[in-house]
Formats: sequence, C-alpha cells, structure tokens
Amino acid sequence: MRRLNCFVFTVLMLLSSVNLLAKENLIQILSPQDYSLHRETTINIVVKVTPAKVDELKIITSIEEKSVKIGKTATMNCKNILLRLGENRVTIRAYKDGKMVSEQIARMYVASDIFYRFRYPPIQYKQTFFHTDTNEALCKKCHNMTSNEIKNVAFIDVKESNCYVCHSHITKDKFGHAPAVNWLCGACHNGKAGVENMQNQGRSKYLAAQPVDQECFKCHKSNYKKWSKARYRHEPLDSGNCNKCHNPHSSPYSKFVRKPVDEICLGCHKDKHIKARELDNSECQGGIDKTKECVDCHNPHASNRPFFLRDKDDQRDKKEKR
Ligand code: HEC
Ligand code: HEC
Ligand code: HEC
Ligand code: HEC
Ligand code: HEC
Ligand code: HEC
Ligand code: HEC
Repeated sequence: MRRLNCFVFTVLMLLSSVNLLAKENLIQILSPQDYSLHRETTINIVVKVTPAKVDELKIITSIEEKSVKIGKTATMNCKNILLRLGENRVTIRAYKDGKMVSEQIARMYVASDIFYRFRYPPIQYKQTFFHTDTNEALCKKCHNMTSNEIKNVAFIDVKESNCYVCHSHITKDKFGHAPAVNWLCGACHNGKAGVENMQNQGRSKYLAAQPVDQECFKCHKSNYKKWSKARYRHEPLDSGNCNKCHNPHSSPYSKFVRKPVDEICLGCHKDKHIKARELDNSECQGGIDKTKECVDCHNPHASNRPFFLRDKDDQRDKKEKR
C-alpha cells in the first residue's frame, strides 16, 4: 500500500512538473526577480510572452488589477505597479480567447526603516539590481538605456530624460525633490558605493552610496555647516542616513518626509507615543500641547540644546515649497 501511494505520488509529481514547464514557456517574468527586496512602493513589471499563444495578461496585486492586451508581435510587456509596505505577491495570469493558459507569481518585500514592523525583512528576500549590461540588453531594442543627463543642467521637458519612460512614477507625489523632478538622477545615483553598501559595488550602474549624506551635502552645504558644528546630533543623521526620513525623490508630505512628521518620530520612538500622547504628566511636552508636532519643539537633525530642542533662532520652517 505504501509503495503504491509512493508510486502514485511520483507520477503526480512528474505530471505536474511537465505541466509547469509547459506553462513557463508562455510567460516569463523578467523583472522583478522572485523574493526581491525594495524601498520604493512602485515597481516595473516586465513580462515576456509568446504572443501567438497569449492575447491578454492580468497583473494582480492586493491593490490593483491591470489588464494588458497583447499585440500580435508584443513579446515584451512592461507596466508600472504600486506596492505596499511589507510582503507583496504579484500574480500574472495569461489568457487566450478568455481562457487562462498560464500563471506566474513573483513575491517582493518593501522594507522601511521607520516602521518597526517592516524594518527587518524575512531572510529569503534579497536586494536585487537591474541595471547591468546583461539585463539592459533585453530592453535595448526598444528603449534607450544610456544616461543623457548633463551634470547640474535640468531637462526643460523631463520626458526627454532616457530614464523617464520607465521611472516616471518615482516623482509622481506632490512634493518633489529638485534634482529628482528635474531628472538629474545621476546627482545621487552615480554608481559609487558607500561604507554600508560596499559589497554591492559594481552590481548596478546607478547605485547610490549608503550612507548617502555626503551626496546630499554636496548641494546642502549650509546644512552641513550648521549641523556638523552642533553639540548634539540625532543618530540617524549622524550615521548619514537622510533617506530613512526623507524620500529623496518625492513624497505626499512637505520636505519629502516619508510620513507625516509625528509618525516618522513615533516609528522609532514608540515609547514616546505613550508618553507624549497618553500620559498627562509626560516629561515630554508633546502630550500637554496637542496642537504641536514633535518637530515644533525638536529639531529633527541637530541642536546645541539637549534632546535637540530648538533655539529661538531655529524655528521650524513651515513654508511649503511646492
Ligand atoms: C519590443 C519592444 C520593447 C522591449 C524589448 C521592451 N519594452 Fe518596455 N516598453 C515598450 C513600449 C512600446 C512601451 C510604451 C512606451 C511609451 O508609452 O512611450 C514600453 C514601456 C515600458 C515601461 C513603462 C510602463 C508604464 O506602465 O508606463 C517600462 C517600465 C518598461 N517599458 C520597461 C522595460 C524593460 C525593463 C525592458 C527590458 C527588460 C523593456 N521594457 C523592454 C516596448 C518594449
Ligand atoms: C527600459 C526601462 C528602464 C529604463 C530606460 C531605466 N530603468 Fe532604471 N530600472 C528599471 C527596472 C525594471 C528596475 C528594477 C526595479 C524597478 O522595477 O523599479 C530599475 C531599477 C533602477 C534603479 C535601482 C537599482 C538597480 O539597478 O536595480 C535605479 C537607481 C535606476 N533604475 C535608475 C535609472 C536611471 C538613472 C535611468 C536613466 C539613465 C534608468 N534607471 C533607466 C528599468 C529602467
Ligand atoms: C537626492 C538623491 C537622489 C536623487 C536625485 C535620486 N535618487 Fe533614487 N535613490 C536615492 C537613494 C538614497 C535611494 C536608496 C533607497 C531609498 O532610500 O529609497 C534611491 C533609490 C532609488 C531606486 C530604488 C528603489 C528601491 O525600490 O529599491 C530607484 C529605482 C531610484 N532611486 C531611481 C531614481 C531615479 C529614476 C532618479 C531620477 C529621477 C532618482 N532615483 C534620483 C537617492 C536619489
Ligand atoms: C544636486 C543637488 C542636490 C542634492 C544632491 C540633494 N539636494 Fe536636496 N535640494 C536641492 C535643491 C535645489 C532643493 C530646493 C531648494 C530649497 O528648497 O532649498 C532641495 C531641497 C531639499 C529639501 C527641502 C528643503 C526645504 O526647505 O524645503 C530637502 C528636505 C532635501 N533637499 C533633502 C535632501 C536629501 C536628504 C538629499 C540626499 C539624499 C539631498 N537633498 C540631495 C538640491 C539637492
Ligand atoms: C530623523 C529623521 C530625519 C533625518 C535622519 C533627516 N531629516 Fe531632514 N528633516 C526631517 C524632518 C521631520 C524635517 C522637517 C519637516 C517639517 O518641518 O515638516 C526635515 C527637514 C529638512 C530640511 C529642510 C529644513 C531645514 O532644516 O533646512 C532639509 C534641507 C533636510 N531636512 C535635509 C536633510 C539631510 C541632508 C539629511 C541627512 C544629512 C536629513 N535631512 C536627515 C527629518 C529628518
Ligand atoms: C530611524 C529611527 C529614528 C527616527 C525616525 C527618529 N529617531 Fe530620534 N533617535 C533615534 C536613535 C537611534 C536615537 C539615539 C538613541 C536613543 O537615545 O534612543 C534617537 C534619539 C533621539 C532623542 C534624544 C533622546 C535622548 O534621550 O537623548 C530625541 C529627543 C529624538 N531622538 C527625537 C526624535 C524626533 C523628534 C524624531 C522625529 C523628527 C525622531 N527622533 C525620529 C532614532 C530615530
Ligand atoms: C511642546 C514641545 C514638545 C513636543 C511637541 C514634543 N516634545 Fe519631546 N521633549 C520636549 C522637551 C522639553 C524634552 C526634554 C525632556 C523633558 O523636559 O522632559 C523632550 C524630550 C524628548 C525625548 C527624550 C527624553 C525621553 O523621554 O526619552 C524624546 C525621545 C522626545 N522628546 C521625543 C518626542 C516625540 C517623538 C514627539 C512627538 C510625538 C515629541 N517629543 C514632542 C518637548 C517636546
């Protein structure tokens, strides 16, 4: 009996693997790789299909469902999609005459330094890189894969940037950072690694150094002058990771902070949530004056006063630039 079961099982396994192979030929997800790790909540999906056997693709995530009609010769199909923080599963279904003929799944994880839950991605997720000669060769036929930016010279029409067609979504949010909205991507993505990502040197043409602060300070010189002299510096600033709090491209919040300011602070200072918001006799004045946000009293970067409390000449700049 046991042997028989085993036999049946093997036959089933063989059948199903043959089946899988047959399906894989119809659609192939070229990007992103399965179990890839990301920082942005947008991504490009690139699917290779056999056009004679597939006439429609459905790209399904927990946020949206996109349908792509396949032209007679369209082997390569590319779409921007949105992701959520944490685990995402993207299902690609291929159809012919309304009948599903194949299905592929890619898993990806969007990590965040300011939300504890998403700070440490499960180990099976790995950072992957797209911009290598081998990968770019797959797109070259239809896309110009070289950089056409001139250092410090903004594009008059950003659509002229060779990067725009694939990455247009990265600057879509209301508050855009000047070098990004002018498509001077090379200001930060110069291919150089920093001490924290030295192991990735050479894995992408457009690597950005980690920590990234030295790139930021090349333009933000006055900030550097002020903060490097301050008596107290906030740990995430001192370690150079401006991008923990700021999205260097664009964000729905002023100064491109990744979340409303209080949420950013409380993401790392969870205890303050209880102290500042729930206890009356809070040491921290936040709980007493609920009209104030954390950064009305604390400078998020540095200060000469303990706890980075603001001085009279260091008031919060509430001007919205865009
Ligand atoms: C057979 C030609 C062809 C190949 C090969 C090709 N693409 Fe495309 N791609 C297109 C066309 C056509 C568009 C639409 C362009 C437009 O809207 O101006 C496009 C658009 C895109 C978009 C934007 C999609 C959106 O939702 O706005 C992305 C991202 C993209 N391609 C990525 C890639 C990547 C990555 C590769 C290589 C792995 C690749 N493409 C290879 C033809 C191709
Ligand atoms: C044909 C489409 C295409 C073009 C053109 C393109 N990219 Fe990408 N890029 C991708 C894809 C696909 C990824 C993988 C991550 C994703 O889907 O967002 C990627 C990833 C990246 C990354 C993350 C690091 C890496 O290597 O994965 C950076 C940075 C980047 N692109 C910058 C640029 C810049 C700068 C340009 C213009 C010089 C550019 N890209 C042009 C498709 C493209
Ligand atoms: C001010 C510096 C800066 C500029 C300008 C900039 N980036 Fe980035 N970018 C970064 C940093 C730092 C990261 C590292 C991850 C993060 O914090 O989001 C990054 C990450 C990325 C990623 C990978 C996100 C992921 O999911 O892992 C892509 C793609 C990207 N940038 C594309 C671009 C493109 C395209 C441009 C030009 C429009 C651009 N960047 C301009 C600093 C910059
Ligand atoms: C190529 C030059 C350049 C680089 C590199 C650069 N920035 Fe900027 N940044 C600008 C310009 C120009 C502005 C708009 C002028 C202004 O408002 O001060 C700006 C504005 C800002 C603002 C909003 C300032 C305000 O008062 O509204 C923040 C925040 C910011 N940048 C953060 C960063 C971070 C973080 C980095 C590194 C990841 C960085 N910048 C790298 C040029 C740069
Ligand atoms: C702990 C989170 C955090 C880190 C790390 C951080 N910032 Fe900020 N930054 C903020 C917040 C919050 C604001 C103010 C937003 C507001 O007032 O609405 C801000 C405002 C700014 C401004 C505009 C106001 C000003 O003070 O000039 C600039 C420029 C800036 N940051 C650049 C940087 C650079 C460059 C780095 C890295 C060297 C960095 N930030 C690191 C949270 C941070
Ligand atoms: C990426 C994580 C992170 C974010 C986001 C963050 N902090 Fe911090 N903060 C730290 C670390 C790490 C320290 C140093 C260790 C400690 O004292 O807890 C620190 C220290 C502090 C201190 C000094 C505490 C002491 O006892 O000396 C204050 C005050 C503070 N942060 C306020 C803020 C405010 C206000 C914000 C929002 C603008 C913020 N933090 C956002 C990580 C963060
Ligand atoms: C009305 C001004 C004010 C606001 C708003 C405020 N704080 Fe404070 N905070 C202080 C002062 C003053 C101290 C110095 C210690 C004390 O006097 O108790 C402090 C101390 C701290 C400390 C270090 C001491 C400790 O208990 O760990 C942290 C961390 C901190 N605040 C974070 C925050 C966060 C996060 C927010 C937003 C939720 C916030 N603060 C809002 C005034 C404020």
